[in-house]
Amino acid sequence: MNKAQLGFGIDIGGTGMKAAVVDLDKGDLASTRYRIDTPRPATPAAIAEVLRDLVDHENWTRALGIAFPAVVRAGVVGSAANIDDSWLDINANELFASATGLEVRMVNDADAAGLAEMNFGAGRGRTGVVMMLTFGTGIGSGLFMDGVLVPNTELGHLELDGSDAELHASARARRLDDLSWKQWAARVERYLKHVERLFSPELFIVGGGVSKRHDEWLHHIKIDTEVLPAVMGNNAGIVGAALVAPAAQVDV
Ligand code: BGC
Repeated sequence: MNKAQLGFGIDIGGTGMKAAVVDLDKGDLASTRYRIDTPRPATPAAIAEVLRDLVDHENWTRALGIAFPAVVRAGVVGSAANIDDSWLDINANELFASATGLEVRMVNDADAAGLAEMNFGAGRGRTGVVMMLTFGTGIGSGLFMDGVLVPNTELGHLELDGSDAELHASARARRLDDLSWKQWAARVERYLKHVERLFSPELFIVGGGVSKRHDEWLHHIKIDTEVLPAVMGNNAGIVGAALVAPAAQVDV
């Protein structure tokens, strides 16, 4: 009999909450992904209730990792750019632990996606400074040095041309401003050049839903730094979340 290292990851997003058991040696899902619509309004109590359903659905009884679209320091939510304001200063570790009876580790969603890419995806084996950027409702960032995460960098909120960068260059901005891929790529290029000047990374990994369509826009971007599309797709948040919770050793 072999031992598998399993974890459970939950990805809390603006429209859906997704969960699965994760094989932490391979970075693969070890159960079918289960999704429930994010409740509206997405208050702490409403989210905690859905979270309990996700855990019950899988009968998971060990530690949980949870990816969340905000600053999270030692479990405490420190920003609310794209989430309900009632989350500010909430200790999500405690809230979710009491909702589920399980040990909980919280991680910022872009940090989680970056952990998944660094361990199993586009950043695997890469050293030096690597910057994960996710383009979705906002822009999330995950900064890595020799594979070690510096959490909560929040580079989507850099001020660029007089406004918050994510308002201009996120995937949502592409839809709201009705931009072609090429027009949007010009905004992303401007943003990447700014981040490049500040951090001089060796590699950018670009993720979020738009990474699936990278052939539409990535070739328009001309910068000195290497840019790779994320490869973990929809599962990046779940896998990264599972990576931050202590693994369960299970016989297989
Ligand atoms: C939030 C970040 C988050 C990013 C992507 C930003 O608005 O401030 O914490 O990682 O959106 O969801």
